[in-house]
Amino acid sequence: TQTLKIALLPGDGIGPEVMTVTAEILAGLVSRFQLPVEVQSFAWPSHSWHQQHGQMMPEDGVDQLRAFDAILLGALGDPGPIDDPQRYVLSDSISLAPLLALRKELNLWACERPARWLPGAPQYLADSRANNVDMLVIRENSEGEYSNQGGRLRAGTPNEVATQVEVFTAGATERLIRHAFDRARQRAALRHTPRHFATGKEAQVCLITKRNAQPFWGDLYTETFARIAREYPDVDTHHELVDAACMKFVQCPWRFDVVVASNLHGDILTDLAAVLCGGPGLAPSANLNPADARIPALFEPVHGSAPDIAGRNMADPRATLMSLAMLLDYLAHKHPAIGNAAQHLHDLIAEDLKYAFSGTRETGQRLSQRLAAG
Ligand code: IPM
Ligand code: MN
Repeated sequence: TQTLKIALLPGDGIGPEVMTVTAEILAGLVSRFQLPVEVQSFAWPSHSWHQQHGQMMPEDGVDQLRAFDAILLGALGDPGPIDDPQRYVLSDSISLAPLLALRKELNLWACERPARWLPGAPQYLADSRANNVDMLVIRENSEGEYSNQGGRLRAGTPNEVATQVEVFTAGATERLIRHAFDRARQRAALRHTPRHFATGKEAQVCLITKRNAQPFWGDLYTETFARIAREYPDVDTHHELVDAACMKFVQCPWRFDVVVASNLHGDILTDLAAVLCGGPGLAPSANLNPADARIPALFEPVHGSAPDIAGRNMADPRATLMSLAMLLDYLAHKHPAIGNAAQHLHDLIAEDLKYAFSGTRETGQRLSQRLAAG
């Protein structure tokens, strides 16, 4: 058997704490299921690496990561002092928020953020139908509002003009939307109890835009969506403006299945979706290149580095553990034992949700004991 390589990037803020717990559970799974897996942990990218070396990671960091089968990241980002021009620089050759640079450099153009409410998780909505929330937000991960073009004219003067250019290309739009339809179909095929949307179809994709105010990319998205939808007559389609979608995520989130959104809209909607499922401590994600299996996918909790609570045993590690479960699902086709370990971890986390969060280390200890005992 081929040995699979997993890179762990604890990162900044609460990242190292949630990663310590997760690495321990991963080690437990490796030994219990005899996984053909080799794990390597990196001190970069991080702000502590930056303090020592003047950049967030070595120049060849991204290339080192390419040699792995999958990457698990804790959290990255600590804006630091606003006058430090290096604070958003990944390395000498890459100048962008480190996390965004990693996604871009690895060409991980699709971000998948599942939002399923599980029994035991906090439920912030009063309507009991909210227990049926089960959606997958697919976020564009390579361009759009995050294109990092523009600048500040006459910066710092009363006449300053800041521009932030959004770039949407047909190629990135088409691959994203096609991926959303493929995933909707797959989800319908894998569901134990079928869902039926308004049209009687068992899968749905909802497109998000702000086409009434941003017609250029709104129309590109809408037209591409309509064209691709014709190839998926079994999938119900639906279009929401992002502001209305925010209302519906709160009013009737159980109606959504796959939601496909631009980079920024997807970012915002997935924080909202995380709260529908119990909060940031329970929301995992995957950054993928669905078109190229050689590129390692990067898994991470939706939450950030939360510097305000870092080092205080206050971060729920279960979002990172759920991201590890997604990582194992992603590698499952490589070896049957990995699929078994993934299922075991999903079950372990689901069972653990009956305990309200009471500390990073406590959660880790409880899960380690269950893993060793069961
Ligand atoms: C996320 C984060 C990042 C994003 C930040 C840290 C740049 O909020 O992964 O959702 O906006 O993509
Ligand atoms: Mn975000």
